[in-house]
Amino acid sequence: MTLARLDHALDTGALTLSQDARVVVLEPAMESDLTPLAGMRISVQHSFKPAYDHFQLLGFDVTTDATGPADVVHVTVPRSRELARGLLAQAEAIAENGLVIVDGAKTDGIDAILKFAKSKVAIDGQMSKAHGKIFWFRACAAFADCALPDPAPIASGWITQPGVFSADGPDDGSQALVAALPKTLKGQGADLGGGWGYLTHHLLDLPGVTHVDLVEADRRALTCAEKNVRDDRVSFHWADATAWGKAGSLDWVVMNPPFHTSRTPDAHLGQAFIRSAARLLRPKGTLVFVANRHLPYETTLSECFQQVAELDGNSRFKILQADHPKGSDKPGRTKRR
Ligand SMILES: C[S@@+](CC[C@H](N)C(=O)[O-])C[C@H]1O[C@@H](n2cnc3c(N)ncnc32)[C@H](O)[C@@H]1O
Repeated sequence: MTLARLDHALDTGALTLSQDARVVVLEPAMESDLTPLAGMRISVQHSFKPAYDHFQLLGFDVTTDATGPADVVHVTVPRSRELARGLLAQAEAIAENGLVIVDGAKTDGIDAILKFAKSKVAIDGQMSKAHGKIFWFRACAAFADCALPDPAPIASGWITQPGVFSADGPDDGSQALVAALPKTLKGQGADLGGGWGYLTHHLLDLPGVTHVDLVEADRRALTCAEKNVRDDRVSFHWADATAWGKAGSLDWVVMNPPFHTSRTPDAHLGQAFIRSAARLLRPKGTLVFVANRHLPYETTLSECFQQVAELDGNSRFKILQADHPKGSDKPGRTKRR
C-alpha cells in the first residue's frame, strides 16, 4: 500500500514537495510503500523491530531516533494519543522551519489529532482519503510541551511510557497468567513479546528458573523492561519474536502474545508466536500462555505440540499449556545436555 493520502495530496497538487527535499518519515506502517517520496533524501525512524528491518532491507536509512535537520517530516499517527502528540513535537524539532505532514486513519484518531493541531498551529492544508486524513503545517515549536515523556514510574511503581502496551499498569490477562504459572517451570526460557517486563519480573520468582530471554519488538517497551527488571538472569533482545533465537534451545516459553495490528484483531500474530515457541523449545519443553478466549489458537497448537491443556481461564481469557513440540527430535535441533 502506498502512502495513499500523501500520494493523493501530491497528485492533486494540493501539496508540493521539492525533489531534493530531506525527508524524515516517522513510524510509517510496515506495509507503507514510500514511492510518493521517491527521489528525495529519505530517512525512516522506527521503534518496532520488524518494521525497522523491513525498511532497512528496502535500502532506506533507518534509525530509532531521528534527529534531522529535515525539510519535511511525515508522521503516521499511532493509536496512542500521547505518543502521537510526542511524535508531532519531535517532528517540529526535526523540521525546524520545514513542513510537518500528519497522516492517519480515522480508527487511529486522526480527527482528534487534527482538532488538537488546529488549537496550536495554522494548518496549511488538509485532505480526506482512504478512511483517514492528511494535513500539513509549518513547524514552529507549537507542540514543544507535548514531547513524549521519558519512561517513568506509574502509580503501581512500574516504569512505563505512553504508547507501550498496557502503559497504565499490568494487563488483566498477564495478571491471570502470573497467577496460573506452573511452579514446576525450570531452567532457561523466554518471555516472547515481553513488553515492559511484567511477566519476566514474576518468572524470576519461580525457584527453578535460571535464565529469561525477554524478547520484545517495541524499542520503547524494551527500554522500560530494562528499568523494571534488573537481574543478571535476564537478557534483553530487541527482536522479532517470530524469527528470534536458536531452535531447540529453551526449556520453556511464557507469553501474552500480541493479538492485533493497529486496531484490527489479528490471530495470525499469536499463531506465529506459537509456532516460534514450538521451534525454540527442547523436545520436553513447555509453552504457557494467555489469550483472549475467542482467539482461534487451538488448531495451531495441535499442529505444533503433542499435548495441549487449558490450565485456567474465565469468560475473557484462557491460559493454555502446550508440551512436547512436534518434530523437535529432528536432526539438527539442540539436544538437552
Ligand atoms: C499483549 S502484549 C504483552 C506484553 C507483556 N508481555 C505483558 O504481559 O504486559 C504483546 C507484546 O508483544 C510485542 N510484539 C508485537 N509484535 C512482536 C514481535 N513480532 N516480536 C516481539 N514482540 C512483539 C508488543 O510490542 C507487546 O509489547
